[in-house]
Amino acid sequence: MNVHGLFPQYRPRRLRQTPALRRLVAETRLSASQLVLPFFARAGKKLRVPVASMPGVFQLSPDELLRDATAAHQAGVPAVMLFGIPERKDEQASEAYAKTGIVPETIRLLKQELPELIIIADVCLCEYMSHGHCGVIHQDARGTRVLNDPSLALLAKSSLCYAEAGADIVAPSDMMDGRVQAIRQLLDRSGFEDTPILSYAAKFASAFYGPFRDAAESTPKSGDRRGYQMDAANAEEALREVALDIREGADMVMVKPALAYLDLIYRVKTEFGYPTAAYAVSGEYAQIKAAGQLGWINEKALFLETHLAMRRAGADIIITYAAADLARWLKEDPA
Ligand code: PBG
Repeated sequence: MNVHGLFPQYRPRRLRQTPALRRLVAETRLSASQLVLPFFARAGKKLRVPVASMPGVFQLSPDELLRDATAAHQAGVPAVMLFGIPERKDEQASEAYAKTGIVPETIRLLKQELPELIIIADVCLCEYMSHGHCGVIHQDARGTRVLNDPSLALLAKSSLCYAEAGADIVAPSDMMDGRVQAIRQLLDRSGFEDTPILSYAAKFASAFYGPFRDAAESTPKSGDRRGYQMDAANAEEALREVALDIREGADMVMVKPALAYLDLIYRVKTEFGYPTAAYAVSGEYAQIKAAGQLGWINEKALFLETHLAMRRAGADIIITYAAADLARWLKEDPA
C-alpha cells in the first residue's frame, strides 16, 4: 500500500458511521466455524471436577464430556480437542496407547453420538508418565534427560491408537524431533493414510501453561520443559521447526501460545501458506477470566477482541477454552 498516494480529503471515519457499515468493510471475521474446544477426560460417571485456575473448565467423565461437547456443537463449534487424565501413570506412558484408555473410550463415545463433530486427539506423553515429562527419561549423575528417539515409537503408537478409535485428526504436542515423520509412517503402514496430522510445530516453553498442568495433572516432577519446548527469544528457529514438520508430513501447523506470539502466527501463515492454528492457552484464558471476575475488564469484549487479533495475524483455526462462549456471543452479535 502506498500511503503517499492517498486522496487528500480521505476521511477514514466516513466508513465507521454505523454498525452495518463497519461490518461491511471489516477485513477480518471471527466465526464459530474456526474454533476448537479442548476437553480434559477422566474415567468415571457423572464426574465434573472444576479446575481452580480455569473457571468454567472441568475434568469430565465421558458422559459429562458428551453433554458439554453436544452443547458446544449445537452452538456452532465444529471441533474438539481431547486430553486424557489416566488412572495410572508409569515410566512408559502405557495408558497413552492402551485401547481401553480414557481418550480412545471418549473418542468412541463422541463418534457414536456426534458423528459430525471433528475429533482432534492431542498426542503427548506427559499426562501418562509418572515423572510428567513429554518423553522417556534417563536419570544419571548429570540429572534428568528426556530421550528423543526412544520417545518417538510411543508417540506413534499413541497416534495410531487414537486413529483406530475414530479420531479425525492427531495433534502431537510433545516437541520431540522427528515425531511427525514417525507418526506419519506408522499411520500410513496401518491403513490410516487419510488421517491428518496437526503439528504443534512452534510450541514455546511458556509460563502461560500453568493452569493447564493443574487441569491435566501433568506438571513435571523435576526440571522443566526447556530442553524440548522452544525459547521465547527465537522466531527464526520457529520457522525452521515449521519447515521441518511440513517436510515430515504435517497437514496443519500450530503456533502456541497465541497472543504473545502473534508475530509468528503472521510469519508462519505468510511464509508457508499452510492451514495455521493458534492455541489460546490456559494462562491466556485464566488471565481474562480472573480480571473479568474482579470486574476489572469486560470479559466478553476482551475474548472477542483477542481472538479477532489472532485471526488478523493469520490464524485459520483457533483452539480456545472460550470456544463455546465465543460461538454463542458471535451468534448474538456477529463480528
Ligand atoms: C502437553 C500439552 C500442554 C499444553 C497442551 N499440550 C502443556 C505443556 O506443554 O506443558 C498446554 C495447553 C494450555 O496451556 O492450555 N504437552
